[in-house]
Amino acid sequence: MHLGALILAAGEGTRMRSKLPKVLHSLAGKPLLSHVIETSRTINPDEISVIYGHGGEAVKNHLAADDLNWIEQKERLGTGHAVIQALPHLQQVDQVLILYGDVPLISGPTLVSLLSCLHSSDLALLTVDLQDPTGYGRIVRDRDDRITRIVEQKDASARELEISEINTGIMAVNRDKLETWLSRVDNNNAQNEYYLTDIIALAVADGVNIQAVHPHNEEEVMGVNDRKQLAYLERFYHRNRADELMQSGVTLADPGRIDIRGELKTGQDVFIDCNVITEGSVSLADGVSIGPNVVLKNCAIGVDTEILANSVLEDCEVGSGCRIGPFARLRPETQLADQVHVGNFVEIKKSQVADGSKINHLSYIGDSEVGSKVNIGAGTITCNYDGANKFRTVIGDRAFIGSDTQLIAPVTVGEGATIGAGSTITKDTPAEQLTLSRAKQFSIDNWVRPVKKAKD
Ligand code: UD1
Ligand code: CA
Repeated sequence: MHLGALILAAGEGTRMRSKLPKVLHSLAGKPLLSHVIETSRTINPDEISVIYGHGGEAVKNHLAADDLNWIEQKERLGTGHAVIQALPHLQQVDQVLILYGDVPLISGPTLVSLLSCLHSSDLALLTVDLQDPTGYGRIVRDRDDRITRIVEQKDASARELEISEINTGIMAVNRDKLETWLSRVDNNNAQNEYYLTDIIALAVADGVNIQAVHPHNEEEVMGVNDRKQLAYLERFYHRNRADELMQSGVTLADPGRIDIRGELKTGQDVFIDCNVITEGSVSLADGVSIGPNVVLKNCAIGVDTEILANSVLEDCEVGSGCRIGPFARLRPETQLADQVHVGNFVEIKKSQVADGSKINHLSYIGDSEVGSKVNIGAGTITCNYDGANKFRTVIGDRAFIGSDTQLIAPVTVGEGATIGAGSTITKDTPAEQLTLSRAKQFSIDNWVRPVKKAKD
């Protein structure tokens, strides 16, 4: 059996009031459509096809991948019409799973239970009971509780509008049957559209016993039509991730105030304070503590390291037992070994800092190699850029850099060297010696402060 996932994404998304196609709006840092594509990959279909609309080239260009089939629906004549456009492109597919690009949180396990129904039926439908079913197609059942058809909101009678079981739109159908039924669907309805949902009544007429499957939660089948719904699902998503984290042994100061946009791996006894955002691939080893308002993007933090409030870390590695922040910024290609201290208003870029070194206040360290047990005083700057090229600074083990030093790269500070505060270092400095460049201090005797002129 060959399974094809078919994702409908030709909608205009007018209610988003946006220049960006709806399915490219992001949820947890990733386009809505990417969520659906990634979930369909988890069930290993033989092919994945996406139906995009006129002007949806942006979608295609943005999400292109080798395993995706892009099918254009030139005119938007309804969900049935969309699937009809796709059929000729679904080569060798025996079973079709229909999904929606704007229903991002559908889960793999729900799709697996839907597909398992195809063993005993030609059509399986994902339905759910809603307190407020307004706007959705309603599932009509007979006296024996068998599904007989779906009626769209706009075509429904007053009695049918009272039905609370709704069509999520998501279904799995045997391909031959889908093709036969769709060829019989017309557009004689309130919206003059070819409704995919009309195949239900046609299947029933063919004697098919339609199976209904329900999702684990409503949010799985909720669509995004406007920014309010998007925000609701965004919060729901992070709240779920927060619950998973707590179950795995992480303490969260407030599970309602954490955003996990990507993969977050955590060890034991990790603590995460309020308003932390993680992006991309982040790993926090055992005992890591993350302070409030910290942003972590693609980074690995070692055992027992503390990241204090308002620090921003991107594409970097931090060893164990380090203390970073508050207000520290670690930029791409930064590697800190163990027991390193980085304090407030320190920026480090493309640099390696070895064990036990301290850069505690107001410094810029870029394109540098800092040895172990180095102390870098407040206000130290590596001047790595001449306006055209970047140069490296190398600081040997145990060096002590006095406050407010400028290190004009390329330059090497020897092991155990001391640099006097306020120095501008332009040449390599010898190991174990004191080097300083500083104008001599002098005082003027009998100097009188200027005073304001008296007014006439
Ligand atoms: C559809 C269902 C309805 C269900 C609801 C669930 C039909 C006729 N109705 O209604 O029973 O309760 O979804 O949300 O199927 N699309 C295309 N091409 C088209 C038309 C739609 O790709 O020509 C895509 C849209 O991008 C969207 C999806 O199909 O992702 C659903 O279309 P929409 O117009 O929103 O259908 P609803 O009226 O909401
Ligand atoms: Ca819709």
